[in-house]
Amino acid sequence: MERTLSLIKPDGVAKNIIGEIIKRFETAGIKVVAMKKLHLSQKQAEGFYAVHKERPFFKSLTDFMTSGPIVAMVLEGDDVIAKNRKLMGATNFKNAEEGTIRRDYATDIEKNVVHGSDAPETAAFEIAYFFSTMEIVG
Ligand code: CMP
Repeated sequence: MERTLSLIKPDGVAKNIIGEIIKRFETAGIKVVAMKKLHLSQKQAEGFYAVHKERPFFKSLTDFMTSGPIVAMVLEGDDVIAKNRKLMGATNFKNAEEGTIRRDYATDIEKNVVHGSDAPETAAFEIAYFFSTMEIVG
């Protein structure tokens, strides 16, 4: 059993598709074992995306991620990191497969509706960034 962090970004929350996204996870047999809605500060967004701090899009990304509330979730299931990434589709929605969340709802490479951890080590860091062990109920 594996765990991953999923974020519904400010564009996804503004589009009122929280339920639609969770439905896709549950339909795929993925379990939501923790969830909260929050509005990140600039510092919190910068800490979360610290691996991207040298990238040209870092300022724009952290501005976007603090522009409105987000929903953070811990997802659990067999091979859930890869499964979630398949459901999300490619970072750039133009390259995302038909029927993926980003293909259906993203509007540009930055406003791409969802985030998902890309490996077990990043999942561990990202889950701990948002949730204490007491808040995760499997
Ligand atoms: P995410 O999976 O959350 O990881 C980093 C985010 O940076 C990415 O989704 C996009 O929202 C954003 N981003 C903006 N521009 C780029 C880019 N050129 N390449 C990758 N990610 C980008």
